[in-house]
Amino acid sequence: MRVLVCGGAGYIGSHMVRELIRAGHTPVVFDNLSTGHHWALEAAFKGAAEKGLEPELITGDILNLGDVDDLFEKRPIDAVMHFSARSLVSESVLRPDLYYHGILVGSLNLLAAANQARVDKIIFSSTAAVYGTPEEMPIEESCPTQPITPYGQATKMVEMILEDYAQAHGLKSVALRYFNAAGADPGGDLGEEHQPETHLIPNVLKAILGQTPPLEIFGNDYPTPDGTPIRDYVFVGDVARAHLLALDFLDRQPRPGFSAFNIGSGRGFSVMEVMAAAERVTGQWVPYKFAHRRPGDPPVLVASAEKAKKELGWDPEVTSLDEIIRSAWNWFRQRAESPA
Ligand code: UFG
Repeated sequence: MRVLVCGGAGYIGSHMVRELIRAGHTPVVFDNLSTGHHWALEAAFKGAAEKGLEPELITGDILNLGDVDDLFEKRPIDAVMHFSARSLVSESVLRPDLYYHGILVGSLNLLAAANQARVDKIIFSSTAAVYGTPEEMPIEESCPTQPITPYGQATKMVEMILEDYAQAHGLKSVALRYFNAAGADPGGDLGEEHQPETHLIPNVLKAILGQTPPLEIFGNDYPTPDGTPIRDYVFVGDVARAHLLALDFLDRQPRPGFSAFNIGSGRGFSVMEVMAAAERVTGQWVPYKFAHRRPGDPPVLVASAEKAKKELGWDPEVTSLDEIIRSAWNWFRQRAESPA
């Protein structure tokens, strides 16, 4: 299958590209390389030639309809995976304009071009942020979606648009609501690199490596046992694998429709617990200090992934937080020794 991977040079996107190649599919990557990396794609494309696959990178902007139309006009595409969007909860609170514009216009452009080219399968990168501050844990897909941030709101709107496209244009789509994707490919050549880095596990490891000042813990007055927020960390390779299963799921669907699935491990860890795990894995102390809460952070987000298990056949293979952190630690140490 030829799969368009929008945002394929990013953190989760590049792990996806590697999984697609492993599974014998041809990724067509579309990325503006604003936050994605050339080196990530070089690594992800490795092994394609041996399989007789010819992956490609098309540099363009999803916010430019001309670029997106061009993409579909010039090559056959069987399915679309849409990773192209900003995804920082607190940034979205400060810059709603960037998030509503980027997420909505980008998704509408992609849907318009895909529909024009009669591509009827789309997998969308959604987020736990669509749930806002849920009252029940673990969170099931049937829980109300009441986002508390522009990132969550805009992403929820895209889910609604996908649902409407099923009715109007016969689209089959899946939204994968990621919880906290983390870790790095065990091969050691693909991992997380954001500028600036805002995510917890990379920041903990960078503080240990002395690459950043002490870790700031954003709030220790949350209604949780140790006062710091609890999140569900899910291995990035498992997140990518969920998309392959979602592709099979879409192929099996006799009719157009939209489905949402939580992609999380089902277990929650506080910021302090993540720090303790990082200390176990690295054998080093994390230098840290407490700081104010970050806007838009709910106290607890933990997935029920039962629906994904039942309907997609998805189960995370890497279930230990220590193992997730170990993979990230290998990656950051290796990067510190030989930056791209
Ligand atoms: N945190 C710190 N210090 C840091 C970084 C993070 O204390 O330097 C805390 C945050 O306050 C939060 C937790 O660690 O409580 C996790 O924060 P991340 O930034 O790693 O992740 P988020 O939970 O904010 O967001 C991630 C993705 C979003 C997605 C969300 C769903 O970035 O795209 O998970 O749970 F929507």
